[in-house]
Formats: sequence, structure tokens, C-alpha cells
Amino acid sequence: MGTTLQVDIITIFPSMVRGFLEESIMKRAAERGAVTFRVINLRDFTGDRHQSVDDRPYGGGPGMVMKPEPFFKAVEAARGVARDAPRVILMSPQGRPFSQALAAELARAQHLIFLCGHYEGVDERVAQAAATDEISIGDYVLTNGTLAAAVVIDAVVRLLPDVLGAKDATAEESFQDNRLEYPQYTRPENFRGLRVPDILLTGDHAAIAHWRSEQSRQRTRARRPDLLIQPEADPWPGSGRLPSSEKS
Ligand SMILES: C[S@@+](CC[C@H](N)C(=O)[O-])C[C@H]1O[C@@H](n2cnc3c(N)ncnc32)[C@H](O)[C@@H]1O
Repeated sequence: MGTTLQVDIITIFPSMVRGFLEESIMKRAAERGAVTFRVINLRDFTGDRHQSVDDRPYGGGPGMVMKPEPFFKAVEAARGVARDAPRVILMSPQGRPFSQALAAELARAQHLIFLCGHYEGVDERVAQAAATDEISIGDYVLTNGTLAAAVVIDAVVRLLPDVLGAKDATAEESFQDNRLEYPQYTRPENFRGLRVPDILLTGDHAAIAHWRSEQSRQRTRARRPDLLIQPEADPWPGSGRLPSSEKS
């Protein structure tokens, strides 16, 4: 058993994520001591009677912007209990695109703190000075970062040692080695006239491995040829933040 990963989720919608953490693999991972979850209500770090977390944008424009102070205070409080150097991850459609490789990187951390935005977004100073990373789960805009954080947490926690049953359960999955997984079948052998490929019934492990590898290659080429092309340069080296020179 490895060390326990501490995961903190700072959100104005705690109940949006609690149910998710109390089901299935997330629940089991916590019970096994692979991970400890804390859901932190951002409103507990406000100073006014109305517990307001947002304000009007400087320069005008529609909607409200989340204030920096509650996020800074919540991060400071979350840091306090855990080991040093947490990854503080601001969920943002403008962040580093989430990927299996990034999930594996985060699974090696000791402490992850997720900051979930709402409204028109979050005061930029949170990204500048409270967060170490900004992560996007895809090129679309959600109303809130809590579900986005849940997506990242799910992908990370299932990679922790001893969380999934079979040791190699994650070894051949999609996106390992930049490939999609081969097609999978279970019983019955013939379902409404749709037959399982004969090769899978032969018991010839070498032939099956070859078939699967070939299927994986063909499927990747047909569906996701972009995975086969290595980007020339990673614009997000080492963390989820752009170098400050590129941010201005
Ligand atoms: C309505 S969005 C704000 C979008 C912002 N005005 C913009 O254009 O970049 C509100 C919050 O949802 C979360 N969010 C929305 N889309 C996301 C995505 N694709 N990945 C991660 N977080 C996202 C972020 O926390 C964001 O602060």
C-alpha cells in the first residue's frame, strides 16, 4: 500500500460532489486508505453576513466574478493539515487539457486541492498566486467547476495503488501509449446474431494479443489519428500553468 493521497475540493456546492465520493470506486478507495477526501465550503471563508463569494467585474461586462480572498483563505486552511507542496488546481476551460498522462502525474502527488469556479469565472489573481495548476476537462463551458473536478478526481483515484481489483486493470486501457483500447466482448458468444470474433474463442493467447494490438492500432488510426501525432512542443511544461510571460 502506498501513502494516502489527500484530496480537497473547495466549492460553493458541496452536495454536488459528496454523493459522487460516497459511491463505488471512490468510496472503496477511501475505505482502503488510498485517499482521503475533504469537501470544503468556500462560503466558510467569507467575512460578511451574506457569505458572498462574488462581485461585479472591474471594467464592466455581464455576470459576476468570484472574489480572490475566500479562495486564498480556503487554500491556506487546506494546506495547514497536510504535507508540503500541494498541487492547487483551478478548474478552468482555459487550463491545460486534462489527459490520461496528466491523471498519472497527479496520482503521484501527495495532496491535491481543487478550486471550483462559478459565475463568469474567478478573479485572475487566484490563478496567478493561489493555484499551481489550471486544468480544463474539454473545449466546452460548464456552469461550475465542481463536476469538472469530480472528473479529474475519478481518473486520478482509480490509478492509485490497490484501488482497482486486478493489478493490470489500467495497463492496457485507452490512451496508454497514445492508443485506444481494442474492442471487448463478454458472454453470450452469439447475441442477436452478433458474434464474438472467432479469434477470441481460440484460447491462443499469442494470436489474441496480436489481434488486439492490431485492432487497437486500426481503431486509433480511424477514430483518433491525432493521438498518433506527437506534438512538437508541450505548451504546459511541468505543470498546468503557462509561463507567466505567456499569460500577459
Ligand atoms: C461559466 S464557467 C466560466 C467561463 C469563463 N467565463 C471563460 O470564458 O473562460 C464557470 C466555472 O466553471 C468551471 N468550468 C467551466 N468549464 C470548464 C471546463 N471545460 N473545464 C474545467 N472547468 C470548467 C470553471 O471553474 C469556471 O470558473
